[in-house]
Amino acid sequence: MKKIILTGDRPTGQLHIGHLFGSLLNRAKLQDEYKTYIMIADVQALTDNFSNPEKVRANVMEVAMDNLAVGIDPKKSTIFIQSLIPEIAELTVFYSNLVTIARLQRNPTVKEEIKQKADLFKDSVTFGFLGYPVSQAADITAFEANLVPVGEDQLPQIEQTKEIVRKFNSLYGETLIVPEAMISNFGRVKGLDGNTKMGKSLNNAIYIADSPEMIEQKVKKALTDTQKLKVDDKGHPEICTVFSYHEIFSKGNLGNIKKECQNGARGCAQCKKELTNNIIEFLKPIQERRKYYEKRPKLVEKILKDGTKRAKKKAEETLKKVKKKMKLDYFK
Ligand code: TRP
Repeated sequence: MKKIILTGDRPTGQLHIGHLFGSLLNRAKLQDEYKTYIMIADVQALTDNFSNPEKVRANVMEVAMDNLAVGIDPKKSTIFIQSLIPEIAELTVFYSNLVTIARLQRNPTVKEEIKQKADLFKDSVTFGFLGYPVSQAADITAFEANLVPVGEDQLPQIEQTKEIVRKFNSLYGETLIVPEAMISNFGRVKGLDGNTKMGKSLNNAIYIADSPEMIEQKVKKALTDTQKLKVDDKGHPEICTVFSYHEIFSKGNLGNIKKECQNGARGCAQCKKELTNNIIEFLKPIQERRKYYEKRPKLVEKILKDGTKRAKKKAEETLKKVKKKMKLDYFK
């Protein structure tokens, strides 16, 4: 039997190259080897977008198209919408007994996000947002996933899932699978502004669907070594955001770029032009596939509908096992 992958994206905007190298390329590569479920996490997206449901709704299609664009094949992988699987919500309620408030408050990713969302949560965070790692544990376990390809920032969520699974299994008997995170070897993709994270809400991202003109504009504004002002100033690639992108997109010429920058033999404008061309070239086949689906929204809807049907079946089976173990299997 093939092992199972589950992963997901929040539909709060189009996906960017941080997602691409953090998780999307991995999942596309693994879909032959693993039974793959890709969840569009609309319920989770609402935990910090509850006042903007239109945004979440509109981005479900965008995220679906981004996944299809990177080569997720609907014949091999199951793409589905979280809110259409109420079994996940039921599991969340059961798991909420297995985790303390203090433990949720210690989750470093959630902590950081609450800080970033000070406008939204002011002096008190919602029950739903604080608890989203519990619902993420439900996402993962509902599909009996062995492996979860995610960006580095998601490690604490997988850790919490493991704890919930162990607690469940020790209380009610071996039932749930302990998942493992799969982190890409690219690490975190920095933001254009040098921020350690590229993020939709940080306004520092290059999107998978950005046009060549857009990419050019964005790279032009990207942060470089601020000490390097003239072409022949010696640069410090190790602190340059643009160089960190070269490490991803310009593998073949990396040694040269580094040397020339360090020796003052390359200006930032020329360096950025080279990067721009490489990004555009890399994204070309992905964008061509995306355009195919953009022209066929009905096809994308059908893929989501069929995927959701398959996913629901799997989640129903898991919920049945869980309820049985919890003595909730009435009127058999
Ligand atoms: N929290 C993830 C993110 O922000 C999205 C997500 C929701 C997810 N459910 C998941 C990822 C389950 C992996 C597995 O990117």
